[in-house]
This record gives sequence, C-alpha cells and structure tokens, in this order.
Amino acid sequence: MPSRLDGKRVVVFGGATGIGFETVKLLIEEGALVTVGDLNVEAGAKLSDMFQDSICFQKCDVSSEDDVRALYAQAGEFGGQVDAMVNCAGMQISGEADALALDDWNRIMAVNAGGAFLTAKHAIPYMRKAGKGSIVIIASTAGLRGGPEMTAYSASKGAMVAFGRALAMELGKNKIRVNVVCPGWTDTAFNGPVIETLGGVDARDSMLKVSVPLQRQAHPREIAQVNVHLASDESSYVTGQSIVVDGGLI
Ligand SMILES: NC(=O)c1ccc[n+]([C@@H]2O[C@H](COP(=O)([O-])OP(=O)(O)OC[C@H]3O[C@@H](n4cnc5c(N)ncnc54)[C@H](O)[C@@H]3O)[C@@H](O)[C@H]2O)c1
Repeated sequence: MPSRLDGKRVVVFGGATGIGFETVKLLIEEGALVTVGDLNVEAGAKLSDMFQDSICFQKCDVSSEDDVRALYAQAGEFGGQVDAMVNCAGMQISGEADALALDDWNRIMAVNAGGAFLTAKHAIPYMRKAGKGSIVIIASTAGLRGGPEMTAYSASKGAMVAFGRALAMELGKNKIRVNVVCPGWTDTAFNGPVIETLGGVDARDSMLKVSVPLQRQAHPREIAQVNVHLASDESSYVTGQSIVVDGGLI
C-alpha cells in the first residue's frame, strides 16, 4: 500500500527535538524525504544517524534570513522541490510584563513570529513553481488565550496565528494551503522551566487533571500526527485554519 507522503519533499524547521522530531520521524515513516533546519546541531547529528538517506540536516536559526535562505538552497539540492513546510521552531521566555526586558521581547518575537514569516516566505517560490504546496505553522493555545507571565510568548504565538490566516487568504489562488496548529500541554523539554515554577511534575499533573478534559498532556507524536495530516494531500481542502490540539483545554 502506498504511504501518504511517498516521493514528497518536506522541510521541517525545529525538527531536532520534541514535536519537530516526532514530525520528522512520522514524515519519514510515510515516505517523505526531509530537510531539517535547527539550532541544535548535536540533536541534528543524531537525526542524521537515525534516518540516514531520508534526511538532510543543516544548522539554521529561523530568525536569520540568511540561514533560512541557505536551508532552502540545501533543500533544493537535496530534493529539487518543496511540497510542504512545517515550522516547529520556537522558544519561550516567561516573566511578568513589567519585569520583561525589551531585548527578550524582541528575541521571542524574532524567533516565533519572525521565524514563521521567514520560513514561509522562502517556501513560497518553490510552491508557486510546483503549482501547489502546504505550509504548517506550529503556534500554541497561548496564541488564542492569555496566561500570567506569558505576555511575550502569547503575543508571538498570536502573531503566528494571524499571520497564517492572512497568508492562507493570499496564497489560495496559488493552490498553496496554510494552516496553524495550536498545541496545548505537550510532553517535551520545552516546559521544563514552567514545571519548575509550578512546583514539579506532580504539581503539573494535578493541574492537568483539573484543567484538561482528557486529564493529561499530549505525547509529541499526537501533535505530529496533525502536522503530517496537514502537510499531506489528505487535508487538500483545509486552509486558513488554527487547529487546536489540546485535549479540550480551551
Ligand atoms: N511543549 C508544549 O507544551 C508546547 C505547547 C504549545 C506549543 N508548543 C510549540 O511547539 C513548538 C515545538 O516545541 P517543543 O515542545 O517540541 O519543544 P522543543 O524545545 O523540543 O523544540 C523546539 C525546537 O526548536 C528549536 N529552535 C529553537 N529556537 C530556534 C531557532 N531560533 N532556530 C531554529 N530552531 C530553533 C530547538 O532547538 C528545538 O529543536 C514550539 O514552537 C513551541 O512553542 C509547545
């Protein structure tokens, strides 16, 4: 039986760990060749060992237009086309607004919102040339609702949601689909500092029991499954959406 992504070329940013890693793994299981850009070169080397000829890893900071441009040049050499792009790269800085440094605000906006812009911007020429494509942007439920000490992160994720919606309107005529995925609590290293603030893993689990209808966090593969659905032709009539994958939290 053919797999969902046989012969497809996909670019994944932030694919070295967590949700991005699970997305890369699932894309490869489904038959895709994947170019990965991430800051974490150690985890990137492990990916290359693990997936060998199915993957091409290059160091890339999504807030640098030169890095993103170079990553797409590499993807062009690796596969000659870009059928889909999934941006999982992201960072978090928490703290009360009146204690937040402007440099921290600017950095989080540059990586999360600016990264969404740059990674999509440089995918478009490939997709226009192919006459179709799928752009998947990983934001967060934090982009749809607020939370204490989350102003910068929420603002950056809200910008990603709005950017994705507007871009979908712009690119529909080119048969390029754009969707945003908004995960809730997901079991990756990303939440380490927040868990510490909450008082540890047990406190986190008690909080999840009362606040999440499914009473648990997501495994990163549960987010990856939605990402891969949106990257593939299975979702051929879905565009301009913010898909919430949060166990019912919001
Ligand atoms: N874990 C959660 O609970 C959760 C919830 C909602 C949204 N998210 C979002 O999901 C995405 C993936 O997070 P994760 O949970 O897998 O965490 P993670 O830390 O495992 O993954 C983030 C990846 O992005 C990479 N990265 C960070 N800054 C980068 C940059 N400037 N350029 C390129 N790569 C960079 C990291 O090296 C890492 O591989 C993030 O955008 C995060 O905001 C996570």
